[in-house]
Amino acid sequence: MSRVAYVNGRYIAHSAATVSVEDRGFQFADGVYEVVAIDRGHFVDELPHLDRWDRSLAALRLQPAMPRNALRQIMREMLRRNRVREGILYMQLTRGAARRDAPFPRRSQPTLVMTCRRQSLPGPVQVEAGVAVLSVPEIRWQRCDVKSVALLPNVLAKQRAREQGAYEAWFTRQSDGVVTEGGSTNAFIVTGDGALVTHPATNAILGGITRDRVISLAKAAGMTVHERPFTLDEAKAAREAFMTSTTTGVYPIVRIDDATVANGKPGSVALDLNARYRIHSAAGATLG
Ligand code: PDD
Repeated sequence: MSRVAYVNGRYIAHSAATVSVEDRGFQFADGVYEVVAIDRGHFVDELPHLDRWDRSLAALRLQPAMPRNALRQIMREMLRRNRVREGILYMQLTRGAARRDAPFPRRSQPTLVMTCRRQSLPGPVQVEAGVAVLSVPEIRWQRCDVKSVALLPNVLAKQRAREQGAYEAWFTRQSDGVVTEGGSTNAFIVTGDGALVTHPATNAILGGITRDRVISLAKAAGMTVHERPFTLDEAKAAREAFMTSTTTGVYPIVRIDDATVANGKPGSVALDLNARYRIHSAAGATLG
């Protein structure tokens, strides 16, 4: 089965799918994207992802390419044509192709692209081992709440982390030591009394759909959740740390820079939330 991509109304072989060299996504990062997980043939938390997509579009003053229901039909068709039961759907909308000039073109057709691929959440062996994170200076702009395709700081940060043997980078503000989030994940710690702490969903972070889901699963299980900033030092001394995202689920962190988190093994809260999230994901809940 060969992969199929969607480009502006057409389903084409993934390897043959292209956009214009004048596309503003390519030239100016003038576009937004979403990544939605697929579990057992269902989209996970589809509606919150689409709500965030709409918010990102509005922030860039981009018009939706079509009504939501039409978009959802294409998402389903992509899933069907690619025969993906466990994986991710990537969707991106840019301001389209126009003669290169920074202000919005007077007329341009948006470029809507979707791709779909098989991919699994980290398995039991990975989750039970946990991963390391590397702190990097927060150098991003003041609209990190927008899921824009301008990801160069994230790319550089994640590459640096990988080169240092870490799985993820943690953006850390130099002025006050606050950890905002990861290169493509949200950051959580667990305090000595078992409460979760994560940066509030301000414009300093991308408000993750998995973050929101994990907060509500934790609260439903009777846990205390504080949405407040925490510092790198607090994280290094925390009882537990973990990250969340569409592609990682709840992933325990066992090392931050040179500091071992607790005893260097994933903590019980992270493992419990990982299991709860997997159950939620498998249930194919689409109604937020
Ligand atoms: N990344 N923070 C950043 C900077 C992200 O790029 C992401 C998602 C998240 C987590 O958001 P969510 O839980 O909605 O996936 C937080 C996606 C998966 C990506 O770029 O591939």
